[in-house]
Amino acid sequence: MQSNGITVTRVNGLIGAEIGNIDIAGELDESAIALITDAVAKHGIVYFRGQDLSPEAQLAFNNRFSLTGRPNENPMTLAQITMIEKEEQQLKNVGGGWHADQTFNSVPSWGSILAAKVLPSAGGNTSFATLAGAYDDLSPGLQQQLETMRAVHDNTRVITSMSQLPQYANVNIEVVRAAHPAVIRHPLTGRKSLFLNRGYTTHFEGWTVEESAPLLQYLFHRCERPEYQFHLKWQPGTVAFWDNLQVLHYAVNDYHGERRVMQRTSVAGVPLDEAGCTVAANTPAETPLAA
Ligand code: SIN
Repeated sequence: MQSNGITVTRVNGLIGAEIGNIDIAGELDESAIALITDAVAKHGIVYFRGQDLSPEAQLAFNNRFSLTGRPNENPMTLAQITMIEKEEQQLKNVGGGWHADQTFNSVPSWGSILAAKVLPSAGGNTSFATLAGAYDDLSPGLQQQLETMRAVHDNTRVITSMSQLPQYANVNIEVVRAAHPAVIRHPLTGRKSLFLNRGYTTHFEGWTVEESAPLLQYLFHRCERPEYQFHLKWQPGTVAFWDNLQVLHYAVNDYHGERRVMQRTSVAGVPLDEAGCTVAANTPAETPLAA
């Protein structure tokens, strides 16, 4: 696909595209923004090579994208730029497990934009997996059952793992919890997708954690199959933009002894229950969230 000279090239069977012939720090007209928006919604994750994004330029680029114009609700990152860093002496990294960003918020972020700033000499890739592709391959019976269900997400696992990282040792992160449909319709494409992830989804609403675990584990494993994945090999100047409503990601931690620094921003999302993301069967009940 090509528009204004900008190219969009699929890079895998079910997920991922490279966008070329564009300087995302430069002046972008509305048609370029629309093209990028469509590509993210269609391919789940897009990336740009050879960019030079200052924090200000990344914020300006980030803020051109919004599903609603609402401000992003993001209690974990009061600053708009988040630096994701792993130092030479560190063993744990940030994001080293399958998750989608901020699904524990009542308004999950739509997109994340990540720019490579310092890379290890090899490794440090990020893997992505399509939740929409995984949903498509479930049986009609399981699809219909999941469409009636809602799942609870919270940030306790990230608090636990971040508290072990030196840069977050003295940061007090509050527990945040929200329930969302287990299957959503994408607000831009209408495509159905699972909306669950190993990082933050704790149980199904109205079910206990113990009752939820077998089905959740089954679904996590389904979503993480290699067929649904794309592995981004970062280069200096690579910037990725992914869709947290339909894609999981995993920061691969295979570069001990080397430094990796990434610059992240979050694109505002929509309240899923209000934006046509619900399928008729999982419209929220009038009851409070399960604890
Ligand atoms: C994240 O989980 O958002 C970080 C991904 C990465 O550093 O590759």
